Amino acid sequence: MARKKIALVGAGMIGGTLAHLAAKKEMGDIVLFDIADGIPQGKALDLSQCGPIEGFDASITGTNDYADIAGADVVIVTAGVPRKPGMSRDDLLGINLKVMKSVGEGIKTHAPDAFVICITNPLDAMVWALREFSGLPHNKVVGMAGVLDSARFATFLAWEFGVSVRDVNAFVLGGHGDTMVPVTSYTTISGIPVDDLVAMGKSSKERMDEIVKRTRGGGGEIVGLLKTGSAYYAPATSAIAMAEAYLGDQKRILPVAAYVDGKYGLNGLYVGVPAVIGANGIEEVVEIKLNDDEKANLKTSTDAVEELLVACKNLDGDLA
Ligand code: APR
Repeated sequence: MARKKIALVGAGMIGGTLAHLAAKKEMGDIVLFDIADGIPQGKALDLSQCGPIEGFDASITGTNDYADIAGADVVIVTAGVPRKPGMSRDDLLGINLKVMKSVGEGIKTHAPDAFVICITNPLDAMVWALREFSGLPHNKVVGMAGVLDSARFATFLAWEFGVSVRDVNAFVLGGHGDTMVPVTSYTTISGIPVDDLVAMGKSSKERMDEIVKRTRGGGGEIVGLLKTGSAYYAPATSAIAMAEAYLGDQKRILPVAAYVDGKYGLNGLYVGVPAVIGANGIEEVVEIKLNDDEKANLKTSTDAVEELLVACKNLDGDLA
């Protein structure tokens, strides 16, 4: 059986980390694409030289030509610019929207059968735009946010309760931004709802509120510390878990930015929801019951995403 092919569009901090993880796991042969001349080629060479030490069999190549992503089974997109000091959200939106247009066209021409995972921010708008520009089916284009946000939530909860992160099952819904909705009612430790653990006196409502707040600001906290960039290890690890679910037809239920049309009262929007990932991409969006507070928080979050889509449509007539 031929090896799988994984194309990474964007060979920056996340792209390079994705390539290393995918190679170590022998997920397939890897193509790193970037517009910057030399960066994908240099990283591919460096990473290839990990092979003899780590003992992985994976070909890793770097390119500036979209033709080289042809036939990719999975495409993970991190192309774009991060928000820099002095740049408004709208400035970022305008720049990365243009990037999504060129990436979408590249995928449409060369890898129309791929499962596409978008990581570029602002995530919920960029994954929507990438789907529009690429014309791929909605079930084959998804955004990575919830796996990362839930991992951040789980990390803080494991620290709070002094338990293994392996036993924490944390749940985050909504857009990837300040309005995301960490849902404690669906968050458990070895099946025990955290709300019950709080009632047992193992933590407090105030501490839970602080952890929810820290989770919402999780990306910003890391930007504040790094000063010159944003998080890349956990974002890359999250996208790899999604790619593995697709390639292995694992039917995992993961929180992802999926296309929601009809469920959660939404019409044609990409937003963070639990979804089944298997060989057909996003096989099902799972609609869970929410209490009134959670519903209101999700509405605030989806309203913020809708605003971004209006801004995208104003910026590019092809999206209107
Ligand atoms: N096509 C392909 N690659 C591009 C394009 C383009 N049109 N425009 C920029 N790039 C490349 C840059 O050359 C750079 O190598 O995208 C890469 C982005 O890498 P980094 O700046 O290191 O960013 P990274 O930390 O990897 O994050 C990428 O993910 O989490 C989000 O907010 C983050 O939007 C950002 C993205």
